[in-house]
Amino acid sequence: MLIGVGLGPGSPELLTLKAVETLKKSHKVYVPGRMAAELVAPYAEAEILDFPMLTDYNVLNEVWTKNAELIAEESRHNLVSFGLIGDPNFFSTFTHLKRVMNRLYPDVETATIPGISSITSFASRADAEVDASFEVSDGSEKAYKIVLKATRPLEIIDSMKKEGYNKFTFAQRLFMDDEIIIKELKKIPEKGNYFSIVFGQKE
Ligand SMILES: C[S@@+](CC[C@H](N)C(=O)[O-])C[C@H]1O[C@@H](n2cnc3c(N)ncnc32)[C@H](O)[C@@H]1O
Repeated sequence: MLIGVGLGPGSPELLTLKAVETLKKSHKVYVPGRMAAELVAPYAEAEILDFPMLTDYNVLNEVWTKNAELIAEESRHNLVSFGLIGDPNFFSTFTHLKRVMNRLYPDVETATIPGISSITSFASRADAEVDASFEVSDGSEKAYKIVLKATRPLEIIDSMKKEGYNKFTFAQRLFMDDEIIIKELKKIPEKGNYFSIVFGQKE
C-alpha cells in the first residue's frame, strides 16, 4: 500500500500520532524535499524523490510517471509512505502521484493520513479566526467547495448545482466509529447531523 502521510506545517511537534506510527512501521518512506525528510528523521530514514517545481504539465506528468514506476513494485507488497508538508490532499504533490499510480498500477492500494494543513496553521499562528465562509486559492479556477454544518445536504447540493458543481460527496462523523461517506448522489440523505460536510466538485 502507498500511503500519503501529512507531516503538518513544519514543526516536529505538529505531526499526528497516526503519522508517527505509520512512518515507524513503513517498509520505506519517500519525501519530496529536505524539510519533509527532517520531520520524518526521528522515525524513519527518508529518501528524497525528485518532484521539480515546473509548470509544463507534460514534463510534470513524465516525472510523476517515473516516480510511480519506481515505487509501484515495493508498494504492491509492503507499506510505503510518502511524507509531505501539511495535508496530503490539499495542494499536494501526493495528489498527482496517487492519480498516476491509480491509473497505471490499479492493483497498488493507496490511502492518505490527514495532516495539519497550512490553511488551519495560519489561523492559529496569525490569530486570524475564520467564522464564516472563506476562500482558499492558488490562483487557479475555483473547482471545489466544502460546506460545513451540512445538516440539510440535499438543499445545499441543489444550490451548489446552480453554481456549476456537479459531483458531490456527503461525509458525517469522519474518523468516528459510525463514520458515513456517501459519493453516490441518489444515496445522500435529506438530513445530516451537526458533524456533516458536503464536498462539491466541478468535473
Ligand atoms: C504545495 S502547497 C502545500 C500545501 C500543504 N499540502 C498544506 O496542506 O498546507 C505549498 C504552499 O503551502 C503553503 N504552506 C505550506 N506550509 C506552510 C508553512 N509552514 N507556512 C506558510 N505557508 C505554508 C505555502 O503557501 C506554500 O506555497
